[in-house]
Amino acid sequence: MENEVYRASTTAPVNIAVIKYWGKRDAKLNLPTNSSLSVTLSQSDLRTHTTASCSRSFTHDILILNGKEDDVSGHRTQSCFRELRALRKELEDSDSKLPTLSQQSLKIVSSNNFPTAAGLASSAAGFAALVRAIADLYQLPQSPAELSKIARQGSGSACRSLFGGYSAWAMGSAPDGSDSLAYEVAPQSYWPDMRACILVVSAEKKGVSSTSGMQLTVKTSTLFAERVRETVPARMRAMEQAIKEKDFETFAELTMRDSNSFHATCLDTYPPIFYMGDTSRAAVRAVEKINEAAGRTVAAYTFDAGPNAVVYYQEKDEALVAGQFKELLAETQGWETERGQRVQEGGKAE
Ligand code: PMV
Repeated sequence: MENEVYRASTTAPVNIAVIKYWGKRDAKLNLPTNSSLSVTLSQSDLRTHTTASCSRSFTHDILILNGKEDDVSGHRTQSCFRELRALRKELEDSDSKLPTLSQQSLKIVSSNNFPTAAGLASSAAGFAALVRAIADLYQLPQSPAELSKIARQGSGSACRSLFGGYSAWAMGSAPDGSDSLAYEVAPQSYWPDMRACILVVSAEKKGVSSTSGMQLTVKTSTLFAERVRETVPARMRAMEQAIKEKDFETFAELTMRDSNSFHATCLDTYPPIFYMGDTSRAAVRAVEKINEAAGRTVAAYTFDAGPNAVVYYQEKDEALVAGQFKELLAETQGWETERGQRVQEGGKAE
């Protein structure tokens, strides 16, 4: 049929790294200088929902993000479209009965179920959902690991969002990026009581984009060389082991140390990059107090390229962790919990 519209919808979760990706060895292909590992929490339900459609009646590719038309001409989006179309073309070449979807324009409609301004890594879920939706539309047989190589070209951290639960991104060594892909460390069901509390600094915004930040760190930081050569490879092994053993204390220490190490290389960048602010540091102290009061490590903070804190804990310790934040941060303005309660002036929660 001439004007038939083909359509597929999917969702992809936000992932928050516990061993951070920071540094590109190839900026065009998004090849990293170190491997990384993240957790996606299905019950926190921060997701991007995407519908991909194509039709002969569409005149050009279009992307609608949270209700507004977005630019599709950037090389990241173009790389994803090009690679997915090439895979569809291979299918069509091998079976002449298939409709030639690879030659039709695409319409991508995408929305986040969390505020984009919350400063969470929305590009990770965004590109993962875009790649998955188009792969489903094209009925591609490629595995999530294979598709992760395409999502990686949209946004590095997006490759890890092709999997739920605990997933890693192997940096690889091939110059063409063929071995730089995500793999599952463990499904969410393997260690299901992991939880995340997201503390949002409502007032501040990300100053330096992750792409330009990491380029500058690679060029100027001396701490960075040590981090990628020694620190991260050892931590990747230890973190995979901690997850296999469901050893929260080790998981937590590695998470906090790696966040600190990443932000130390940002500070060691010249000129320095400050992602954490006073409010972020108050969250670090609050986590330390919570752990001290519990007499063991029950909470772990981590910060991405922005001031917001993500705090990991286990469900059995919910009362010791989530409930304590409002009290401990009552003196600090500007915090919001995942459930939307804001600590207001005077310390009263809404
Ligand atoms: O995927 P990008 O280019 O937005 O970079 C993400 C970098 C961090 O969020 C800081 C770390 C990570 O591994 O997700």
